[in-house]
Amino acid sequence: MRIVLVGPPGAGKGTQAAYLAKNLAIPHISTGDLFRANISQGTPLGQKAQEYMRAGQLVPDEVTIGMAKDRMDQADAAGGFLLDGFPRNLAQAEALDAILKADGLKLDGVLDLEVPEDEVVKRIAGRRMCRKDSSHIFHVIYNPPKTEGVCDACGGELYQREDDSEETVRRRLEVYHSETEPIIDYYKAQGLVVTISALGKVAEVTERAMAALERED
Ligand code: AP5
Ligand code: ZN
Repeated sequence: MRIVLVGPPGAGKGTQAAYLAKNLAIPHISTGDLFRANISQGTPLGQKAQEYMRAGQLVPDEVTIGMAKDRMDQADAAGGFLLDGFPRNLAQAEALDAILKADGLKLDGVLDLEVPEDEVVKRIAGRRMCRKDSSHIFHVIYNPPKTEGVCDACGGELYQREDDSEETVRRRLEVYHSETEPIIDYYKAQGLVVTISALGKVAEVTERAMAALERED
């Protein structure tokens, strides 16, 4: 299956993607994680991305689309994938269609995670990420680690993302509404969108998502 996950910052895309990718046995491709890995390795791509991420703005398409394509090629798009955080504007959605079409492929579904804005703000304010594995995501209240600051899964150090400050989150939400939401209509016109509520326990949302994707299959 080739699936795109959309939803506002903090909706739980990364959290859900880890479970969905495992259940569906497809690779999880997150452009945010790829950028953060490049930043921590100090690559030129990371240096370029960092200034935009700090400001809560989208990294330019010419950087993002090439990086996403390389990662999809590496994963072999024919075998399926779960895209998280890409595409994020109409130009990226059109580029993705063209990339897939060149290989005679298309998307199977777009899973839209719906969460009220006040919940998004709470989720982001308490988020802690693992330095060793970006799929290990915690929350100081909703999903606290057993030992403060330490990842339960691998012992890695937990940190707060630089772009999770209140001011930057507001900017990211604005960018989501203006740049990313239009892709939902773009995909609705192709009959690809399933919208689910991302409220409730993590496992409940995963169940809802799996049921919605099975209906699409
Ligand atoms: P990216 O990393 O993609 O960030 P985002 O879209 O803003 O999403 P988040 O990672 O903040 O949230 P999430 O939905 O994954 O939530 P999570 O599962 O962590 O992008 C970052 C930046 O990179 C962008 O601003 C941009 O600059 C750049 N970028 C990335 N892709 C790009 C692209 N295609 N083009 C251009 N620029 C790009 O959960 C959040 C918290 O909630 C966690 O603490 C979690 O434990 C908790 N939680 C999750 N589910 C639940 C639940 N059900 N109940 C209670 N708590 C929950
Ligand atoms: Zn970890």
